[in-house]
Amino acid sequence: MNKDIILLPGDGVGTEIMESAKVVLNAIASEFDHTFTFHQHKIGGDAIDHYEVPLPDDTIAACQKADAILLGAVGGEKWDSLPAHLRPEKGLLGIRKTLGLFANLRPVKGFTSLLDASPLKEEVINGSDILIIRELTGGLYFGKPSERREDGEVVVDTLYYQRNEMERIIDKGFESARLRNNHLTSVDKANVLESSRMWREIVEEKSKDYPDVTVEHLLVDAAAMKLITQPDRFDTIVTENLFGDILSDEASVLTGSLGMLPSASIRSDGVGLYEPVHGSAPDIAGKGIANPLGMILSSALMLRHSFGMEQEAAEIEEAVNECLEQGYYTPDLQMDGGTQVGTKEMTEMVLENLTTKSVCNSIGNMYA
Ligand code: NAD
Ligand code: IPM
Ligand code: MN
Repeated sequence: MNKDIILLPGDGVGTEIMESAKVVLNAIASEFDHTFTFHQHKIGGDAIDHYEVPLPDDTIAACQKADAILLGAVGGEKWDSLPAHLRPEKGLLGIRKTLGLFANLRPVKGFTSLLDASPLKEEVINGSDILIIRELTGGLYFGKPSERREDGEVVVDTLYYQRNEMERIIDKGFESARLRNNHLTSVDKANVLESSRMWREIVEEKSKDYPDVTVEHLLVDAAAMKLITQPDRFDTIVTENLFGDILSDEASVLTGSLGMLPSASIRSDGVGLYEPVHGSAPDIAGKGIANPLGMILSSALMLRHSFGMEQEAAEIEEAVNECLEQGYYTPDLQMDGGTQVGTKEMTEMVLENLTTKSVCNSIGNMYA
């Protein structure tokens, strides 16, 4: 297959880990005889430095034509004092909104070899496997522009949702639960927010269309607590934009590090943007120690969700698992024993495991 892939490395560790995804995808392309053509564009602080805007028109145009998009991360202190509409984060929010990527899938599945890396007890996290589905183009992030009033003494942020925006993500939640263990947890704050009461009503209505899926409602504060005390009670979680943002960083603790989590931002036709859940990690940027696995696993999600390449995606995931089984870890993973490596070495280990797999497959084929 021929695919055009847009690369948006962005800022901080985004540029370091994007290289990892690219070489891994090149290895997959040569093993499976695909042609992946990469086109690199600017977003976030990188775009501000060159074009004075966080989301240049040519980046939007390129993304609109692409088969899929990979994004590193945006943001950093350098741009923090810019007005809100010119901040790097606006570039990311802008591309999500412009492309209509309303469904953000954040799988949180621990690797067995990383059980020790989590500060949580092994018996608590063992076997946890959660899919967080976060609404991505509505809510507080996209209400009326925020404003300061009355000489800056009053501030207004607006939480705005249309019914159909809730319906489509809740449908996605039910459909995803059906492909997993038929259990959907809907997270809201219906004891306080009108938007959450409407959300809960829709979940109740929709549950009649999915009688095979068991639904539970949790208030977000309790959900945050249960996520790290009883993670195995969760299967699929569906929630609005801000709650999903916060809960997914929290859930990353189950896997040992925020650097492990991939994500897929998709719309109904399968077009997608794939990015790790973490940010530009300014505290470690430029040191060559960022964990590239969240980014590499995001490229696997791209192969699976946008290109239908299940075997290729699974090979990347297996190669990542092998590296961890062999004891390689980046410093964000607090491991006893094993071999601590940097971004490049970890990427090389993934490549090595991919190659071994590819050689084994071809030997297998020769004797098949
Ligand atoms: P962050 O996710 O960048 O970092 C949080 C912590 O996790 C830091 O200690 C960091 O070193 C660590 N970390 C993150 N990714 C890592 C990786 N791959 N390997 C090892 N350690 C990793 O969040 P922050 O520090 O709150 O935000 C920094 C900047 O990133 C801000 O400007 C923020 O707006 C932006 N941000 C961007 C995105 C995105 O582009 N998707 C997401 C979150 C935050
Ligand atoms: C994320 C990030 C973004 C968000 C920021 C950088 C705008 O935290 O992708 O999780 O809040 O959506
Ligand atoms: Mn976030």
